[in-house]
This record gives sequence, structure tokens and C-alpha cells, in this order.
Amino acid sequence: WPATASWTGGALSLGGVAAADLAAEYGTPVYVLDEADFRARARTWQEALPDGDVHYGGKAFLCPEVVRWLDGLGLSLDVCTGGELAVAQAGGMPPERVVFHGNNKSRDELRRAVTWGVGCVVLDSFTELDRLAALAREHGVRQRVMIRVTPGVDALTHRSIATGGEDSKFGFSLAAGHAARAVRRVREEDSLELHGLHSHIGSQILRLDGFAQAAERMCAFARASDVERLDLGGGLGIRYTPDGQPPPTPDELVTVLRKHTAGLRLSVEPGRSIAGPSTVALYRVGTVKGGYVSVDGGMSDNPRPAMYGAPYTAARASGGEGAARRRVHVVGKHCESGDVLVRDVALPEDVAPGDLLAVPASGAYQRSMASNYNHVPRPPVVAVRDGAARVIVRRETEEDLLRLYV
Ligand code: LLP
Repeated sequence: WPATASWTGGALSLGGVAAADLAAEYGTPVYVLDEADFRARARTWQEALPDGDVHYGGKAFLCPEVVRWLDGLGLSLDVCTGGELAVAQAGGMPPERVVFHGNNKSRDELRRAVTWGVGCVVLDSFTELDRLAALAREHGVRQRVMIRVTPGVDALTHRSIATGGEDSKFGFSLAAGHAARAVRRVREEDSLELHGLHSHIGSQILRLDGFAQAAERMCAFARASDVERLDLGGGLGIRYTPDGQPPPTPDELVTVLRKHTAGLRLSVEPGRSIAGPSTVALYRVGTVKGGYVSVDGGMSDNPRPAMYGAPYTAARASGGEGAARRRVHVVGKHCESGDVLVRDVALPEDVAPGDLLAVPASGAYQRSMASNYNHVPRPPVVAVRDGAARVIVRRETEEDLLRLYV
């Protein structure tokens, strides 16, 4: 739960606003983002790395208002598509604090990055290296780049979100010598400036071993290549359920990274660990049938359980304590059986249509991965702070959905 969450008589408040009032005002489903919590987590990373840089991983959750918070806090921003670049621009992010990632950036995307003046492009292939060098030359720019290295590390996470292994689609292999060749190639190009080396081994990682191994390999490679900057990516996990393993803190992670990288300038790219815990998703119960509690959202606003078997928890937020509990599945309204939001969770026995359910840790890779499956409009994001609420991403309407049809 976010830092400002509180319960009275089984009724939840977030940022000083009652969940029931939020649901009444903005409808359900709704993502409620605790602004103070988000900011505090971003600051915790900055404090863990006072002599380095923190790039927020925008893929976790991004909108112009969040870009303005990041800018104000002095963070940098990692984007990985033209679309995310557009949001960074719309939010007024200074381009020099933007890092552009991706394993298949198009010529148009690269051109936009170069002409806007992004601080750094992270190179992912030789094709891209040549493409970017030519574009930068054409525009009379000396573009700063990092080289994304595949360190050959198993991050011990779900295989869909592990990226550090030798068979990854990302980066230049360290073991095969591709990374060293990329360093030489960049140094041959007058239009490119080698800013540093980068690795990102995966996401939702709860053990520090993989990070330590990557840091050690990357540091050795940086020294051998005479490079002074290392970006060791994001990936720190969060806790989704009460019985889930507590993650290491940013401080603990940075301490481990530091141990292996003394003397190098470090940057990191946390996404989930900043955005994830800040947000609670609120749903309205529509029907209760045996062990199935159906809510008004589902896999379109949170595809993670269906995609990764991701665990979540849920609690009744609309009041009424003391009832005995029974174990149920919280399911969505989509037309398939895989549309389960929370599997096997204890809810009050008298859970009934009209109740409000809250799902914590809903801030990362949910709104950003939401779809319009079954033509369900995507929910809004409402930021709460000091007893006040405001919409920072509005609810999609059927008009929005119909606008694209010819
Ligand atoms: N840097 C790079 C280059 C990345 O690819 C990512 C995430 C991050 C930073 C931020 O990682 P984080 O701190 O958020 O773990 N959709 C999946 C997660 C995909 C992560 C993609 N890359 C999920 O829902 O679990």
C-alpha cells in the first residue's frame, strides 16, 4: 500500500481522500496514484546514488504530469519508443536529460531524438550504430551514445522479463566480443561520442546476486575499454502480496553495485520500484457467483496476471470489518477464463455487488500496458495528495474508441 493509505472501519483512504469518494467522483475502475509516495520513492533512489544519475524507466508508467514531477525532482527519463519520446516532449522534459532505448528504433525515431537533442541514445545493434552515425552526420550533431551490453547474467525472474542472458534480443554480447567491437566502431565515428556502457538484466528482481554479477562484469569491461560511466539499468522488484518476499531497498542495491564499480560514475533506471507501489486500482464488484467475484475491469487494465502469472492481492475498500473471510478469485469482465486479476484471495464472506475492491501495487506496467480488449475503455489515473484529487490521465470514452474507425 502507498505511504498515505489508511483504513477506518474497513474503509480505505488514499492521500487523505476516501476511496469511496474517489470511486463516486471518477468512476471505476480507476488507478489512484499517491503523488507523495511516488515522489518519495524517486527521492529515495536519488539519495541512494547522490553522485550518480537516476533515470526513471518511463515504460512503467508515463504521462506528461509525471514527466513534470520528474523534471522538478531532477531525475532523468528513459524512453524506448517515439511515443514515449512524444510524452517526454509534451511534459517539457529537457532533452539533455532523456535517454533513448530500444532494440529497433526506426530511422524516424532516431532522427527525432537527434534533432530534439536527447542526452544519450543507447545503441543496441551494429545496424543502429551505422544508422545513427549517418543521421548525426547529416544533422551536424555529435550524438552521445551508450552501448548496451549483454553481460550473460541470469537475473532469476520470469523468463519474459529477463534480458541479461546470452540469448537475449537486447544488446551486444560481451562473451562473443561484440561489445568490444561496438566500442571500437563508435570511437571511429566522428559523429558519435561514447558516453558510457549500459546493461539491464531484467525486471521484478528480488535477489541481488544477478546485479552483483552484472556490475562485476560490466566494471571489468569498462576498465578494459577505458570508459568512465556505467548505467546498470532498472529491475528492482516490489512486493505484490502480503506473503511476497520483501525486496532489497535501493540503498542495498546501490551498495552492492558500488562494491564492484568503485571509481566509475553510475546511473540506474528504476521504473517499477518508483511507480508500482504508489498506485492502487479500485474496482466495483458486479456479481458474486460461488468462488468468483467479478469486477468491472480485468485483463484490459491489468494484463500482468494473464501474461506472467503475476500474483496480486485485493481488499474490500468500501468499509465493513469483522466479517469472516472466504477464499475467492477476483475476475474481470472479459470473455475468457484467463481473465483473473487475483487468484485465491481471502475476502470478507459477505462481499457483495456494489462493494469496492482495492488492488495495491498497481502503478507499474498496468496503465502503460492496458488495452482496449473487448472495446473496454482504459481507466483514468487520478493523483491524490494532501486530501485533494485530480485527474492526470482521463478515462477513455467510447468516442475515443470509435474515432479510429473508417
Ligand atoms: N531500463 C531498461 C532498459 C528496461 O528495459 C527496463 C524495463 C527498465 C529500465 C525498468 O525496469 P524496472 O525497474 O521497471 O524493472 N512488462 C513487464 C516488465 C517489463 C520491463 C521492461 N524493461 C512486467 O509487467 O512485469
